Amino acid sequence: MRPLNVLSVTSEIFPIIKTGGLADVAGALPSALALEDVTVITLVPGYPAVLKALEGSRVVHHYSGFFGGTASLLSGRAGDLDLFVIDAPHLYDRPGSPYLAPDGQDWPDNARRFAALARTAADIGLGLAPGFVPDVIHAHDWQAGLVPIYLSLAEGPRPATVMTIHNIAFQGAFPAYLLFELGLPASTFTIDGVEYYGQIGFLKAGLQHADRITTVSPTYAKEIQTLGGGMGLDGLLRVRSGVVSGILNGIDDKVWDPETDTYLEQTYNRDTLNTRIANKTALQRRLGLSQNPDVLLFGVVSRLSEQKGLDLVLAGLTRLLADGAQLALLGSGDRILEDSFQAASIAHPGQVGCFFGYDEGLAHLVQGGSDALLVPSRFEPCGLTQLCAMRYGSIPIVSRVGGLADTVIDANEMAIATGVATGFQFAPVSLSSFTDAFQRATKLWRDTEAWRRLQHNGMSADVSWRRPAKQYAALYRSCLST
Ligand code: ADP
Ligand code: GLC
Repeated sequence: MRPLNVLSVTSEIFPIIKTGGLADVAGALPSALALEDVTVITLVPGYPAVLKALEGSRVVHHYSGFFGGTASLLSGRAGDLDLFVIDAPHLYDRPGSPYLAPDGQDWPDNARRFAALARTAADIGLGLAPGFVPDVIHAHDWQAGLVPIYLSLAEGPRPATVMTIHNIAFQGAFPAYLLFELGLPASTFTIDGVEYYGQIGFLKAGLQHADRITTVSPTYAKEIQTLGGGMGLDGLLRVRSGVVSGILNGIDDKVWDPETDTYLEQTYNRDTLNTRIANKTALQRRLGLSQNPDVLLFGVVSRLSEQKGLDLVLAGLTRLLADGAQLALLGSGDRILEDSFQAASIAHPGQVGCFFGYDEGLAHLVQGGSDALLVPSRFEPCGLTQLCAMRYGSIPIVSRVGGLADTVIDANEMAIATGVATGFQFAPVSLSSFTDAFQRATKLWRDTEAWRRLQHNGMSADVSWRRPAKQYAALYRSCLST
C-alpha cells in the first residue's frame, strides 16, 4: 500500500483546545491513521492555547495582506501531534472559546477567521509547504468548508478532498457582501458554488465541491438526507448521495482507559468491577450527593443545548429519582438549562448534584462512578460519551438516533438472552419512551448479575479508533483512484 499524506483541517483539537467531540476526533485520528500508513499533519488556527502548546516551531511562510493583517504559517509539534499553525494575531489572538466572544455571541469576523483557515489549507494543498504535499485534504465541519472551493479556483494538480460533517446544525452562513473580502470571485456565487439561500454557505460549499462527504455514523448519514434531518442541506446531500458515507467515531483508548485513568479515585478493569464503588463514592462526595452505595446513580456529561434533549431529564426527574436514585450532571452551555438543573439540585438536596463548566477530570469521574449515563439527544451525529460510558462500565441510556442507534445495543429480551446487550435505547424522543427506558434500566439494575453482564459486554466492545481509521484510510485511497 502506498503511504499517504493527509492534511487535516480543524478549528479545535484535543488536548489543546476543545468545545466538543470534534476536538476529540481531530486529536485521536492522526495516531490511529499512522498505523494505516497515513501521515497526518493537522492545520489549526493559532489561538493562544495552540501557540503555547507548539514546540520546535519554524516558519514555513509569511503572508502579508492576509485577511486584514499579516500572518505566518508555522509548523511544529504538540505532544504527539504534528501541526501547521496559522499565527495571525488579528484573527486568533483572543481569549476563551474559539468561536465566541466573552459576551457569548459569535465573533463578528468569524467568516474571515475561518475562511483564513480554509485558504491556508488550500495553499498547503497547492504546495506552500514543500516538505509536505498532501494527497488528500480532510476538512472538518463548516469552519473548513471553503477548502474545496478555494482549491477549485487553482489551475493544475490539486489534492483530493474529504468533507466531514460532525454536526449539520452548524453551517457557517454569512452575508453575501463578504464574497470579495473572502477572496471568492463573483462566479462562485451560484447554486453550484457557495450560494446558500442568498448567503455564503461555508458547509454548503464544502459539500458541493468535496470529492467525498462523510459524517460520523451510518445512521446520521441517512438522517441528513431527509427533510427532517438535513436542516436545509438534505437536497444537496441526496443529489450527492453516491459520495456520502458514515464512519463511526472511536475514542482514544489511551485517554479513556479505566485501568490507568489518573482522574479516577480507583482504577479498575472488567475483572475488578467491584472496586469501582470507590469512584461512585468519590463522585457523590464531589457533587454533594448522599454517600449511599446502594442507590442507582445516573450521570450526564454534556453540552447543555437543545440538541442533547436534557429537558427530558428535567421533565422526568421525579420518576428518575424514585427509590432514592441520584443524578450527577456535568455540563455547560444554555443558561436556562443550567438554571433549571441548579433549581433541581436545590429541590432535591443530596439527590441531584451538578457542576456547570468544563472539567475534563470530572468527566472521567462521572464515567467511572455513575451506574448509568443518560444521553437523550434529539439528534446525535455520533456521540462520544456513550462510548466512554461503555468502556467505563456505566450503562448508556440513549435515544435511538444517529450514532447512538449505531453504537448501543438495547437490552431487550432477545439481546439479553443472547448476551450482546450494552445499554438501553428509546424511541421516539419523548418523555414517555425515555421514562420507559430508565425504568427498564432501574429494574435490571436490581439484578446484579444481569447488570454485570451488560457492563462486561460494553467493556469488551471495540470502541477504539482502529476500525474507523482503516475505513478513513480506505476512503482516502478510494478518492485517489477515481
Ligand atoms: P458534542 O461534540 O456534540 O458535544 P460528543 O459526545 O461527541 O458531543 O463529545 C462531547 C465531548 O465533550 C466528550 O469528550 C465529553 O466527555 C466532553 N464534554 C462534554 N461536556 C463536558 C464538560 N462539561 N466538561 C468536560 N468534558 C465535557
Ligand atoms: C459533533 C456531534 C457529536 C459527534 C462529534 C464528533 O459535535 O454533535 O455527535 O460525536 O461532533 O464527531
